[in-house]
Amino acid sequence: MICIPITSGTNKEALRAIEKSCRLADFIELRMDLIGRGNLAQLISAARDRSASIKIIVTCRKKEEAARAGKARRVKNAVGNSIDRKIALLKEAIELGADFIDIELAEGQAVIKTLKSFCAKHGGQTGIIVSYHNLKETPELDKLEEIFNQCAKAKPAIVKIVTMAQKVEDNMKTMGLISYARKRSQKIISLCMGDKGVISRAVAPSMGNYLSFAALDLKEQSAPGQFTVGEMRQINALLQRQRTAPLEQVLCPSGDSPQNYVLLGNPVRQSLSPLMHNEALKKMGIEGSYNAFCVDDPGEALQSMRAMNIRGASVTIPFKVAVMKYLDDIDADALEIGAVNTIINNHGRLRGCNTDWLGLILTLKKAMTVENKTFVIVGAGGTARAAAYGIMKEGGLPVIANRTVEKGKVLADKLNCPFYSLSEIGKIKADCLINTTSVGMYPHQDKSPVKIRALAGYPYVMDVIYNPLKTKLLADAEKQGCKILSGLDMFVNQGAEQLRLWTGKEPPRALMKKVILARLIQSEP
Ligand code: ATR
Repeated sequence: MICIPITSGTNKEALRAIEKSCRLADFIELRMDLIGRGNLAQLISAARDRSASIKIIVTCRKKEEAARAGKARRVKNAVGNSIDRKIALLKEAIELGADFIDIELAEGQAVIKTLKSFCAKHGGQTGIIVSYHNLKETPELDKLEEIFNQCAKAKPAIVKIVTMAQKVEDNMKTMGLISYARKRSQKIISLCMGDKGVISRAVAPSMGNYLSFAALDLKEQSAPGQFTVGEMRQINALLQRQRTAPLEQVLCPSGDSPQNYVLLGNPVRQSLSPLMHNEALKKMGIEGSYNAFCVDDPGEALQSMRAMNIRGASVTIPFKVAVMKYLDDIDADALEIGAVNTIINNHGRLRGCNTDWLGLILTLKKAMTVENKTFVIVGAGGTARAAAYGIMKEGGLPVIANRTVEKGKVLADKLNCPFYSLSEIGKIKADCLINTTSVGMYPHQDKSPVKIRALAGYPYVMDVIYNPLKTKLLADAEKQGCKILSGLDMFVNQGAEQLRLWTGKEPPRALMKKVILARLIQSEP
């Protein structure tokens, strides 16, 4: 449900805004602290005349809050800061039959109690919203839960908690609060403000937030980061599948409730994982979504993942090693490789796995026999470790070739396998060469980690890069008569294995490959 705050500077303008808003929204919020000389009776009756179904919230925010929300010019007209005037106004709203009044937790439990009993005396038609606004920051989740408990003390109709996002992870805290409230059967509006808080405004409706605030237009924003009503409608349409589920089922840890998954990394904007996973979830008939989160602190992200009952996460650069210390369990494969690319959330217990090695092995095995064959692995980072692990597990023999000799030797010693510096790569005889570095990846597609003449004699050359589909290394290898394997199959297979771990079902690998292929071909110059 969408609520448009009415923030106009005069009563006349407010009447005009109500006229438009009643056509577009389910709720309006009369911001009596901002509407200069606002005539509450006239405003409420205008809204009722316009729409029989519109719900009306009346609020009179503290002066400082209005000023910081960017409405400083108007507060001189406002009702002001006096608690007596505020209580009188909210009592008037109750008498006029407003659907909700909003009172800040900061005004104290005594004021909340007074207004609640006033509501009860007037037939209990008006619900109370107890709200908390923090315009500076988003407190930690446990602190937010404490604040929620304070707000919920008087058993209000709705608890509203709005905080300023200082970082993207703050969205996860306010969204975590939604599941906390729903488990306690308390209706909640929980949001982050500010540019870094827009994720919460977009995602919260599908998580069971009672309503979303949206501005009539950008000039009328009542809080930083607020979407316009048109934008909010588009977002809600996109989330339609989740919104049709009964709210009681949202975030429920079992049953057929939406199964939401995330990608955690930094950066994540270029990732094609959301496209691939969302298509797969749809095809598998699983209600839920997969969203990318650009995070700064993996510890906080995992904490929020538990709180929000996110079923699983993919982990990408640069957190594949960093997440390990926050997990409850780590699979033997991931421990051996020393990196986690997949997290499974089992009722709050997080297990780390690695599907990168499986993605690579499944791709290799489709083209060739791995057992007793020699594989030159170019690079000595996490992907190289995953590749070497998979090859050895299948009975193959890895050889490490790396630019930095010390780093390459450390890995080769650990694996008990030969090491060559990149400049000596031409001397090696092997069955397959695998590039695990990022050299040649878009937008540096003119680069290759290996000189073309060093590729002669390799039956197979594989690149873990999938964008571009044919890297310079693969194009050179083809010219030398080698069979080539692109990183696309590895990418699809590692993603498919993640889905299998999360859902226990076989994912539609061909479809996943098709959508990624189509996107890559579309973006090719
Ligand atoms: P990942 O976890 O994705 O494997 P990583 O741990 O940063 O990433 O490892 C990247 C690997 O690519 C490293 O082995 C790196 O070589 P160095 O050890 O010499 O740094 C290799 N690499 C990166 N850029 C390279 C380049 N321009 N030429 C050759 N190797 C490169």
